[in-house]
Parts: sequence; structure tokens; C-alpha cells
Amino acid sequence: MRRLLVAVATLALILLVSVVLIATGLVGGGSVGVAIRGVFESPAGGAAPAAHRWTGAERGLIASLSIDRLPSLPPDPSNAVGDYPDAVALGHALFFDSGLSPDGSVSCSTCHQPDRYFTDGKVLANVRDMDTPRHTPTIVGIAYSDWYYWDGRKDSQWAQALAPQEAPIEHGGTRTAHARYVLSKYRRLYESVFGPAPDLSDTTRFPPEAAPLEGETSGTAWEGMAEEDRGAVNRVFANIGKSIAAYSRRILPGRSRFDDYAKAALVNDWTRMSELFSAEEAEGLRLFIGEGQCTDCHNGPLFTNGTFHNIGLPLPEGSKFDQGRSQGSLQVVEDVFNCLGEFSDANQEACVELRFIKLEGEELVGAFKVPGLRNVAETAPYMHNGVFPDLEAVIRHYNHAPPAFPGHSDLVPLAFTEAQSAALKAFMLTLSAPPDAPPDLLRQPESQE
Ligand code: HEC
Ligand code: HEC
Repeated sequence: MRRLLVAVATLALILLVSVVLIATGLVGGGSVGVAIRGVFESPAGGAAPAAHRWTGAERGLIASLSIDRLPSLPPDPSNAVGDYPDAVALGHALFFDSGLSPDGSVSCSTCHQPDRYFTDGKVLANVRDMDTPRHTPTIVGIAYSDWYYWDGRKDSQWAQALAPQEAPIEHGGTRTAHARYVLSKYRRLYESVFGPAPDLSDTTRFPPEAAPLEGETSGTAWEGMAEEDRGAVNRVFANIGKSIAAYSRRILPGRSRFDDYAKAALVNDWTRMSELFSAEEAEGLRLFIGEGQCTDCHNGPLFTNGTFHNIGLPLPEGSKFDQGRSQGSLQVVEDVFNCLGEFSDANQEACVELRFIKLEGEELVGAFKVPGLRNVAETAPYMHNGVFPDLEAVIRHYNHAPPAFPGHSDLVPLAFTEAQSAALKAFMLTLSAPPDAPPDLLRQPESQE
């Protein structure tokens, strides 16, 4: 009996030793050895520290988030001049030009500030002491989106760029004034991109302040204009948007520490992995792609699936319920500047998103665009209503995931421990990198014609 036990124990020991030898690569050969080493093999050699040990499936998921997987920016079929250098130059000037507001106080860069990753650090965007209903999102990498604004009420970057110019709580201008301003200040650049500019000098035909704004004197002036003249102004206005889009589509996300980690993870180089990420950061990544289910929505190289979800955010006191996508989808199909409209350069077939848009459904109520998470550490506060001041508050929300009212929350409570929550945050801090754009595009242009 004792002899049998000794034999079994010896056999077990031999088995254990050989598995260890094969796994660590000291002894090779045999299909088992190859399979086992396949999991742990590394150019770094030695044993993988637990924090940086990933399965094949995990490595695939991590790689799918890497900036190395970001395709080069496709052209926008609705904007024929989107990649013209002179359109970029004109858009660059306009983005920073506060002449596009009646009191000369507001430009795009007032709220989308280059040194704040094109955000403003405020809960709700605010100019002239007036809050807008929503928080300012970044524009870095936004050119890859199908929909613009938190509710996606615009379907191109150029159509989006038109709206703030006339919003009374943003630039507060009118389209005849803006068309006239741009044609007088930037005529050479404008004509080099778009051809001969119309003559808007006759103020009886082209009132100084006219725009389709309900209940405003500028609205009455707009109604009084001949249809053809309105068309001419709309054309210049759309071209202003197309130039601004040509500029802002150049502002892309840069390579972050996470991207280097993903590259090392792909080839199982754990020496490099442990140089790049602490065990806590790697644990955060594990939770992000695993138990936290963050990649259900924040996936791909920009960390967004580009769709709309209701995540049951708290409604700050005194604010009204925001319908989000259920309104935005109705607005974009009505927009004269959408992909199917007369100012778009796209063939109808290219407007796939708009043609197959979803207009009804409970899931649209209170749903907002999934924001990308690159540079998220730099762009507090968070969410469409700016309700969370920091990432800790965001993670607390995902831990509790309260039910939404009205609508339906797409979250399940995570109940992460404090250590797990801290790891998740540590991971998100690794996604920061200066924007990838020619440095001169990140500041006000020096000479403005
Ligand atoms: C008063 C501050 C303010 C000004 C000025 C402003 N924006 Fe914005 N921007 C915002 C806010 C707030 C939102 C989100 C609004 C919403 O979703 O309803 C936004 C959204 C955007 C988006 C959509 C981003 C996304 O995630 O879909 C882009 C692009 C953008 N702005 C570009 C511009 C451009 C170009 C200009 C100048 C023509 C401009 N903005 C002027 C505050 C501002
Ligand atoms: C069901 C889809 C979904 C899942 C799952 C999800 N998110 Fe989100 N996330 C969103 C949406 C939608 C928003 C914007 C909500 C809004 O403003 O109304 C958002 C916003 C955020 C923001 C704020 C970004 C900003 O710029 O304001 C952060 C940070 C964030 N999510 C991190 C995470 C993390 C971490 C996880 C996993 C624990 C996660 N998300 C899981 C959909 C999701």
C-alpha cells in the first residue's frame, strides 16, 4: 500500500515538473508543449507576471482598442472640399475668429479650447453669463462620427458647425451677417475654394441681419427675402461650415501610453508591458474589457460604438428632463443641411446613416451619444449635462446604475470594490495624449488675411 502511494506521488511530481518545464519553455517539443507555450510565450522570456497575463481573446480585444487600428480618416462625401488645404486654412481662421459673433466676443475656440483638449472645463457651456442646456464635448477625433451633438441632431461636421453661429446662447449671429463678414474678410481664400462669391452688397435684397430664427426680427427679415437670395446666402453659409469642418477634421487623437501597452500585449512582451503599466492600471484594463462591460459601448480605437444609450443619469435640481436622441433623430431628418439636402455634395446612396435612421423606440428616450474616452482624464466635468465633476463620480454611477426615469437604463450595477474602482480610474488615465495635428492648427492662426 505504502509502495503504491510513493509511486503515485512520484508520478505526480514528475508530471508537475514537466508541465512547469514545458510551460516556462525550458523544455520544448510535443504539441502540448507548443500549446502551453503559445499562451505564455513572450519575446521577454521568463514567466509572465499575473497582472500582464492575457488570453488570446483578451489580447484581441485590447488590440481592437488601439490607435493602431484607427483607419485613416475617410473623406466626407457630403463635403467635397473637406480635404482642400485652402479650406483648412479658411476653417482654421474661422474657428478662432470672434468676428463671427455680433459683439465680437465668441468664437468656436471660446468653448472648444485647444489647451483643454477642445473643451471648456465647465459643467454647462456658458457665454455672456448664460448657460446652454448641455456640456461642451471635445472635437478631437470627432470627424469619425456618424452623428454630431449629444443627441445626434446633425449628420455631418459641416452641418454641425452652422448651428452654434446662430444660436442666441452661443455665437448669436445671423447668416446674412456671417456670409457678408466672411466674404469681405476672406474673399481670396473663399473664392480659391468655392469659386466666385455672390454679390451681397444690396442690403434691400440681403438685410444686414437675417436668419430663419422664429420670433426674432432677423426671422422676419429672412421671410421677406426672395427665395433665390435666401438660397445664395444658404450656399455661402454651408460653405463656411464646410471650411470649418475641413479644419476641425484635422484634429485627431494622439498615441497614448495605452496604445504602446496594447502593442506590447499583442506580442506578449511582458517586460515592456510591465514598464508601461502598473499592476493597478493593467487590472483596470482587465475590468474595463471584462467584468465592467465598458466595451459593450466604449469600443474600437476611439472607445465609442457611435450609438445612443440611456444610462440613467441623475437630473440636476432645477433642470428639465432632456429627451436626447428621441428628439435629435427627428431634427436631423428635417435639417435642410443634412446629407440628403441640396447643400450636401453626397450622392443619396452615400447617406446610408440618414436613410436608415431609427426614429422611434423607447430606447431613444433620454439616450445620448456614447462619448469617446481618449483624453477623458483631461475633459472633466462629464456627461451631456456635466453632472459628474470627476471620474470617481462617474465610476460611482456605474457601480450603482440606478433605474432611468423616464426611459430605460442600459446599465447593470457593477458594485466594484474601492480597489477595483481605483484601478478602473487608473486605466482611464492612461488614455491621454496631446492631439495629433500639425502644431500650427492647435493655435490661433497668425495672419488672418
Ligand atoms: C457656447 C459654447 C460653444 C461654442 C461657441 C461652440 N460650441 Fe460646439 N459645442 C458646445 C456644446 C455645449 C456642444 C454640445 C451641444 C449639444 O449636444 O446639444 C457642442 C458640440 C459641438 C460638436 C459636436 C461634438 C460631438 O461629440 O458630437 C462639434 C463638432 C462642435 N461643437 C464644434 C463647434 C464649432 C465648429 C463651433 C464654432 C462654429 C462651436 N462648436 C461653437 C459648445 C460650444
Ligand atoms: C450601455 C452603454 C454604456 C456602457 C456599458 C458604459 N458606458 Fe460609459 N457612457 C455611455 C453613454 C451613453 C455616456 C454618455 C451619457 C450621457 O451623457 O447621457 C457615457 C459616458 C461615459 C463617461 C463620460 C465621458 C465624457 O466625456 O463625458 C465615462 C468616463 C464613461 N462613460 C466610462 C465608462 C466606463 C468606465 C464603463 C464601464 C464601467 C462604461 N462607461 C460603460 C454608455 C455606456
